[in-house]
Amino acid sequence: MDKFIINGGKKLSGSIEISGAKNAILPIMAATLLAKGKSILTNVPNLNDIKMMSHLLRIIGARVDYFEGTLEIDTTNCSYYEAPYEIVSKMRASVNVLGPLIARFGKAKVSLPGGCAIGTRPVDLHQKALEKLGVNINIKHGYILANCSKLKGNIINFEKSSVGATENALCAAVLAKDETNIRNAAMEPEVSGLIDFLLEMGADIQGKGTTHLKIKGVKTLQPVEMEMIPDRIEAGTFLIAGAITKSKISIEKCEPGYLQTLMGKLEETGAKFEIEDNKIKIFPAQNIIPANIETQPFPGFPTDLQAQFLALMTLADGKSFIKETIFPDRFMHVPELNRLHADIRLEKGIAEVHGVPELSGAEVMATDLRASAALVLAGLAANGQTTISRIYHIDRGYDRIEKKLQMLGAEIKRIES
Ligand code: EPZ
Repeated sequence: MDKFIINGGKKLSGSIEISGAKNAILPIMAATLLAKGKSILTNVPNLNDIKMMSHLLRIIGARVDYFEGTLEIDTTNCSYYEAPYEIVSKMRASVNVLGPLIARFGKAKVSLPGGCAIGTRPVDLHQKALEKLGVNINIKHGYILANCSKLKGNIINFEKSSVGATENALCAAVLAKDETNIRNAAMEPEVSGLIDFLLEMGADIQGKGTTHLKIKGVKTLQPVEMEMIPDRIEAGTFLIAGAITKSKISIEKCEPGYLQTLMGKLEETGAKFEIEDNKIKIFPAQNIIPANIETQPFPGFPTDLQAQFLALMTLADGKSFIKETIFPDRFMHVPELNRLHADIRLEKGIAEVHGVPELSGAEVMATDLRASAALVLAGLAANGQTTISRIYHIDRGYDRIEKKLQMLGAEIKRIES
């Protein structure tokens, strides 16, 4: 039950490095089950979700070692094909072992994820895709029971773009007999990161970065070593930290190509950018212009940056509308931001944000990963002191965020329980 205490209203300066991407690393960790032997992942941050996935892989029988950004996963002796409720209920991304377990063992028992603070998150698309590849699936006692004598290629046409379902279907199709065509596949950079890893393992996949993926099944895959892509959501969060505190800061070791939509929206608010290789410098607006956003699958505006951008709009000079189309109920941060004297009204998946001249520090509570990042940003801009409780949410997806902010001159400290 650690807390953050932030003394806001300070300008930031300097530069920080962006870590590897949680949402690329988790499906890749699951995909290591597709080969027997040791895979080595580098540029891996020390996040609680990565510890949770490591714990799950150990239960399945893998040997997992982590040291200073390097994760070694040896799947030689894996023999257990179950993902238990106590893990899946804490981290939904555990569902990403479903495809790899079926491909490796011909069967899997994976707990249904249960509720989530950001809204209803069913797994029907995962199920339908795997059934297309010849998997028999039953739901019993809160578990997905899957078995399949031989995976067989087929056409999978997703009725809705889903990152997780695309990743599970990919991990099953790479070892299936014949060819699979996935249509309306998710195009997120994290999906492309997984495809790069599978290609390195020896898979045959065409169409990376598009909605149409063509996978020719192969007999076996090999363990490999790979550097993980940078985290575009962490990068975006820090760019917004610069915008909301009206500070010139830089982020390094990021991929500017992943951040075009966000930077386009920040330019609408009056900010400017200097981009050099994998480094971005933000020149913030001194008067924040309101801008409307609507979250969409990549390359649209990412839902994982919606809360942070909304926090910025609380200080804009006028009204803006924030429409959440991926997780329509993903507004747990709104009542907490209003505690900091923001003026946000919610109506049917749209937040109407009336900009105020200033925010004032208060006690607030983190409710989920990205909501807690938005509260940190608002606390940095607010006058006075802000205390944020339940920050275990933020440790799931941000690597030592307070240390990086302190390097930029922020007055933030962690009070350990
Ligand atoms: C991934 O979740 C990310 N998580 C999420 O980031 C991110 O918000 C989300 O993609 C969207 O970009 C990881 O990569 C570990 P989806 P995922 O399947 O795969 C619906 C963070 O903050 N849907 O693309 O679970 C679903 O309800 C996290 O780091 C179905 O209806 O998301 C949603 O409305 C939060 N049936 C939409 O599709 C299904 O079977 C997109 O979800 C699956 C999804």
